[in-house]
Amino acid sequence: MTPTPPPTLSTISQIFLFALLISFKSVASSPEKTTPSFFIFGDSTVDVGNNNYINTVPGNRVNYPPYGQNGFFQKPTGRFSDGRVIVDFIAEYAELPLIPPSKQPNANFNNGVNFAAGGAGVLPETYQGLVIDLRTQLKQFDAVLNSINAELGDTAAGELIAKSVFFISIGSNDYLSYLSSPKMLEAFTPEDLVGMVIGNLSEAIQQLYNKGARKFGALSIGPMGCCPALRAANPKADGGCFEDFSALALAHNNALSGVLLSFEFILKGFKYAFSSGFYRWQDEVMLNPSKFGFKDGTNACCGSGAYGGSYTCGINKEGGSYELCSTSEDFVWWDSYHGTEKTAKKIADALWDGPPEWVGPYNLKGLFSDYDERKVEDLVGTEETMGEFSF
Ligand SMILES: *[C@@H]1O[C@H](CO)[C@@H](O)[C@H](O)[C@H]1NC(C)=O
Repeated sequence: MTPTPPPTLSTISQIFLFALLISFKSVASSPEKTTPSFFIFGDSTVDVGNNNYINTVPGNRVNYPPYGQNGFFQKPTGRFSDGRVIVDFIAEYAELPLIPPSKQPNANFNNGVNFAAGGAGVLPETYQGLVIDLRTQLKQFDAVLNSINAELGDTAAGELIAKSVFFISIGSNDYLSYLSSPKMLEAFTPEDLVGMVIGNLSEAIQQLYNKGARKFGALSIGPMGCCPALRAANPKADGGCFEDFSALALAHNNALSGVLLSFEFILKGFKYAFSSGFYRWQDEVMLNPSKFGFKDGTNACCGSGAYGGSYTCGINKEGGSYELCSTSEDFVWWDSYHGTEKTAKKIADALWDGPPEWVGPYNLKGLFSDYDERKVEDLVGTEETMGEFSF
C-alpha cells in the first residue's frame, strides 16, 4: 500500500483543474456549441457560496438558516439572500444552468464559473485575510483559462472567451471598510479612495480584456447608505440614510461610467452593460416600496435592533436573538446589508432587458445574444452585400 500524502495546495489545485478539464471536455467535443459562458466576479451581491469553502469570520459565511430558505432552494446555500441572487436570474434568462462557485468541488463548470465572494473588495486592504479579493479572483480565472486553452486549443478557447459575458459587481465593501477604519480615514481622502478603487477596477477589466474577454456587465453600487445597517449607524440618528456612504457610491458610479465609456473607444471590440440609472431607481424603490410590489423599503426582514440593522440574521450571538419577518416578499431588504430574492430579481430583470435610462449601452440580453454581431460580420466585406452599400 502506498501511503496517501496529505493534500497540499498544489494537489488541491490539481484536483480543481482536473475537474475543470473533465467538464470542458463536452465543450470540446461539440464544435457546434454556440452558448456563451458566464464568468462572475465580485462580492456578496453575487456570491453563490464561495465563502463556504474558506476560513473566515461567521458573518462572512451564510450557510445556515434562515438564509436560502425561501422559494427556490428551500435550504441555505451560502447566498446572502432568502433565495436566489442576481446572477442566478441572469443565468436563467440566458438559458444557462446555475453557475457554480469556483471553489465547489466536482462542480460542472461547463457554462461558466462564479468567483465572487462575500466581503470582497477591489482593494487587497479591504477586510484583508477574511475575503477573496478581486485580484485573487482574477488569479483563479487565470487557472480556469489555462485549462480551457489546454482542452479546446487556443483558437476555440479564444472564441469562447470572446463571446462569453464577464460580470463584475464589487466596490461597496471598499467604501464600508474605509468608513469604519480610522486608520484609512486618516491616510486617504474620499477622492483618494475612489481613485484607488476605480484605478484597480479599471486595471482588472483591462486584464480580462487582454486575455480575450470582450463582453462586460458591471453593476453600479446601490444606495447602500440606506441599507438597514447603515441607517442604524447613521450618526445623525434621524432615520435617514448614511450620506457619507451615498456620496462615495455616487462618485464611484460616475467614475466607473466614465472609465467604461472610454474603454469602448480605446479597446477594440469592447462591449458593456452598465447600470448607470439604477441608483435613482433603487432610491425610488425604497421611498415608494408599494409602487414596486413591496410593503417595506426600510427595515430588514431578518435581523435585530433599529431597522433590523444589527447583522445578526441567523446568528445567535452571545445568546441574543434575531427577528424574522413572516413574508420576505414584502421586504426590499433581507438582512441588514443584503436585498431579498425579490429585490435581486427586479435588479436582474432590469439588467437583462431594461431600457437605456437604466442600463446601457447594451443590456445583458444584448451581450448574450451574438445575433447583431453575426449580422454585421456577415454584411461586411462579402461580395453579395458590398454592392448594396454606396458611399
Ligand atoms: C491600486 O490600489 C493600491 C492600494 O491597494 C494603490 O496603491 C494603487 O495606486 C492602486 N492602483 C491604481 C491604478 O489606482
